[in-house]
Amino acid sequence: MLRVGFLVSGGGTNLQAVIDAIKAEKITNASIEAVISNNPNAYALTRARENNIDALCISPKTFDTRDDFNKALLKKLREYRLDLIVLAGCMVVLPKELIEEYRNRIINIHPSLIPSFCGTGYYGLKVHERVLERGVKITGATCHFVDEGTDTGPIIAQKCVEVLEDDTPEILQRRVMEQAEWIIMPQAIDDIANGRICVVDGKVKHIK
Ligand code: GAR
Repeated sequence: MLRVGFLVSGGGTNLQAVIDAIKAEKITNASIEAVISNNPNAYALTRARENNIDALCISPKTFDTRDDFNKALLKKLREYRLDLIVLAGCMVVLPKELIEEYRNRIINIHPSLIPSFCGTGYYGLKVHERVLERGVKITGATCHFVDEGTDTGPIIAQKCVEVLEDDTPEILQRRVMEQAEWIIMPQAIDDIANGRICVVDGKVKHIK
């Protein structure tokens, strides 16, 4: 059984999609052991509690130094003996030590087709605002492993979504979530839990 932990900051709709997929047995061999948020008011924590999943807040604001926060986060993640860490709307910059320790065992969901509209400053609604400003016709989402860069790790899955002329950032965000994020993230977790993917030379390969 793959022991999965979530790092979140907000609404937790991607977390919900994974909870639902586990219940529906679309994801097998995986269980969510903990949901950790830097934001005490994140609705994702409520979603976790409602589903009897450990829900914790570890906020940098409650520590004297960033290093103290990093240590506390790492300690907690180790306590849960996680096989996979899922970043689902996590607004915290991860400690380098964590990325090293969990190499190819941390995944992130990003609301664009990487390498477009990604990197520093591209998160949440901002991504969709820039997509609309640029006038692109196709956007989407990407699920990828996390490395030291911002949105640079090996790509696991991508799904495209049409941009419509009357879209607002909010409407487009919702469509990208519904048509891409909530599909590819659970699928990626199921693929990992069932040993269907590996990373070779920095690229994800699907095992046949
Ligand atoms: C999602 O749209 C996710 O792609 C985005 O934050 C949202 C979280 O929503 N992540 C990023 O922009 C990362 N760069 P959720 O809390 O409802 O899952």
